[in-house]
Parts: sequence; structure tokens; C-alpha cells
Amino acid sequence: VSARDSFDDLGAAADPAMVVVTTSLGDERSGCLVGFHAQSSIEPRRYTVWLSRVNHTYRVALLASHVAVHFLTDADRALAELFGAVTGDSVDKFARTPWTPGPAGVPLLDACPHRLVGRRITLVDDGGDHVAFVTEPVEAASPGPFRPLRLAAVAGLHAGHEVDEATAPIGSAS
Ligand SMILES: Cc1cc2nc3c(=O)[nH]c(=O)nc-3n(C[C@H](O)[C@H](O)[C@H](O)COP(=O)(O)O)c2cc1C
Repeated sequence: VSARDSFDDLGAAADPAMVVVTTSLGDERSGCLVGFHAQSSIEPRRYTVWLSRVNHTYRVALLASHVAVHFLTDADRALAELFGAVTGDSVDKFARTPWTPGPAGVPLLDACPHRLVGRRITLVDDGGDHVAFVTEPVEAASPGPFRPLRLAAVAGLHAGHEVDEATAPIGSAS
């Protein structure tokens, strides 16, 4: 078994909870399904999400001050599909699910009460295909316990944007 395959097995075994990250800039709203996310400091509290360069959400988040991180429950499979298998480059996801403007206008999904809003304090671009957005929480809510929607439940989804769009050598596009 190659180290690369073992690496992938470790990630799958961890079976992370899935979130939808949303953001906005003026009238433009964006959001995508995210598996790369974590608390990244205790005091002060920090939360980091990693966004793929090829995503519409990344382009909006680059200039936005805030992001909202919605923790999906095991009843949110349809929402995972909307935000993970569809791109804002061709579809307005926010016309398909109810939302309310939050801090700095960031769209809060009405269907997802377990969420935090973070103000971006720094961005870490290490040259990989995802870029880290480090935030400090300005709001958080979790009305009771919930069962997270995990990676294993959505691993079959075909992402709206594939990362290899960004890394394919010029001229290799089919
Ligand atoms: C299981 C799964 C996990 C994903 N994890 C991430 C992630 O951590 N970060 C990210 O930027 N995109 C992730 N994506 C991809 C985006 O959710 C997907 O490409 C989306 O359609 C992009 O929408 P946008 O172009 O409107 O931003 C994931 C997709 C799936 C199916």
C-alpha cells in the first residue's frame, strides 16, 4: 500500500463532520460544502476553513470580511448536494434555499441552526490547492445536540468544481 493511499485511508477513517461555508461581498453571495475545517485555537477561539482555489466561494471569500460555518445534521443530505455538487458559477444556490443576512451580510441558512460566524483575521496560502481562512468567531449558536452529517454519507457526491481544474497543465483540458 502506498503512503498516498494510507494518507487517504487516514482521512476517510477520521470521517469528518461536513459543513457549508457561506460568505458575501455586496450583493454577491456564495457558499460550498466543506470537509476541511477545524477549531484552530482555544484562547482566543479561532476557527479555520480551507477553500479550494477553483471554487466560486473562494473568489468571493478572498475579498469578504466574514464567513458563516453551518454544521450539517444527518438530515441535511439535500443541502450537502446543493452546496457540494453545484457551483455558484452557474446556479444561484441562495434562490433554492431560505437564508437570512447575518453579520456583514453573510448569508445564514435558515435550515442550519448549528453555526458560527467568523471574521477573517488571516489567510494562509501555502501553494496547495486549498487556502486556509483563519477566523475569530463573532457569533455561535447550537440549539441542542445533533448528529453530524459525515464525509462517509456524502463521499459519493461529485463536487461542483474538481480541484484538478486548477492543477491540470495548460493545454490538457479535454
Ligand atoms: C465530500 C466533499 C467535500 C468537500 N470539501 C471541500 C473543502 O473542504 N473545501 C472546498 O473548498 N471545497 C470542498 N468541496 C467542493 C465544493 O463543495 C464543490 O466543488 C462546490 O460545488 C463548489 O461550489 P462553488 O463553486 O459555488 O463554490 C467538497 C465537496 C465534496 C463533495
